[in-house]
Amino acid sequence: MKILVAEPLGKEGLERLQAEHEVEVKTGLSPEELRAAVADVDALVVRSQVQADASVIAAGTRLKVIGRAGVGVDNIDVDAATRAGITVVNAPNGNTLAAAELTMALMLGVARHLAQADETTHRGEWQRSRLVGIELNGRTLGVVGFGRIGRAVATRAEAFGMKVVAHDPVLTSAQIEGMGAEPLTLDELLARADVITLHIPLLPSTRNLINAEALARMKPGSIILNVSRGGVIDEAALAQALHSGHIAGAGIDVFEREPPKESPLFAEPHALLTPHLGASTAEAQKRVSIEVADQILDALAGRPVPLAVNAPRKAG
Ligand SMILES: NC(=O)c1ccc[n+]([C@@H]2O[C@H](COP(=O)([O-])OP(=O)(O)OC[C@H]3O[C@@H](n4cnc5c(N)ncnc54)[C@H](O)[C@@H]3O)[C@@H](O)[C@H]2O)c1
Repeated sequence: MKILVAEPLGKEGLERLQAEHEVEVKTGLSPEELRAAVADVDALVVRSQVQADASVIAAGTRLKVIGRAGVGVDNIDVDAATRAGITVVNAPNGNTLAAAELTMALMLGVARHLAQADETTHRGEWQRSRLVGIELNGRTLGVVGFGRIGRAVATRAEAFGMKVVAHDPVLTSAQIEGMGAEPLTLDELLARADVITLHIPLLPSTRNLINAEALARMKPGSIILNVSRGGVIDEAALAQALHSGHIAGAGIDVFEREPPKESPLFAEPHALLTPHLGASTAEAQKRVSIEVADQILDALAGRPVPLAVNAPRKAG
């Protein structure tokens, strides 16, 4: 069968696909080119940039499976795929450590002003008194979304001497306590945490979850981190809260529009910004490419697909 790989995929996964099927790697396609390219393929592989929307799914009349090399399928119209009888799979496990480690990097980077320290030292300046930071030890970390990545961050933060509180409406208090954190409502967490880190999917219920009102409830001088999805924080409201000094610093890996041509956060010196690097480690790329390739091979062979996110039903 024929597989279209529309975004870069780790070589280990690519080789698995090539061993069993005809694989075309075509990256950087325009929406029109993508619609033309999916017309005669059985499987499509994307990461987070290519939009597999209803028009792409309608054009892919032979499609049996769409694979997302990573976690979160917000760039795939899963409902349209389900109606068209197309299985959608993702690779939710391979990125966890990479995203958790980037979160720790941003937490430390914001706490110790690493971006400004680096920039000024490169310029030949010696800015010591202006760059006094804070310690994480003894601070409270509020984890919003206590799933795979949220829990991996919690474990690492505990090693730094932080107390972990968590909010996750899908989990019971006993489950959160059992995983070593104190369960709180979102409002309680906003009021208690010194550092807040978001690890939630982008859903209608989580869009702009952290808006101006939520930011106002956060402790003065607190820090916020987002390595989950752009759109869960209102970027303009965050820029305003940083500008006023109410929020001392932010570590932001994901943006409402990517790449962000402009963002109110660009002008804020206390925003430490990275270009969606959460999954960008050699190890994660390898794990994810293998995980998604195996799912695609299962789907094309008609075997059970453990990491499918839908149960496709073709009408008629
Ligand atoms: N920046 C990156 O490169 C990168 C890399 C990997 C994952 N991600 C993103 O990180 C996020 C988390 O990934 P994960 O693997 O931990 O997912 P996960 O499904 O294991 O965990 C997400 C958790 O969020 C919870 N949740 C849902 N709605 C919530 C709400 N309103 N408030 C609080 N909690 C809520 C769920 O119950 C779940 O426990 C996803 O959005 C994913 O796309 C980003």
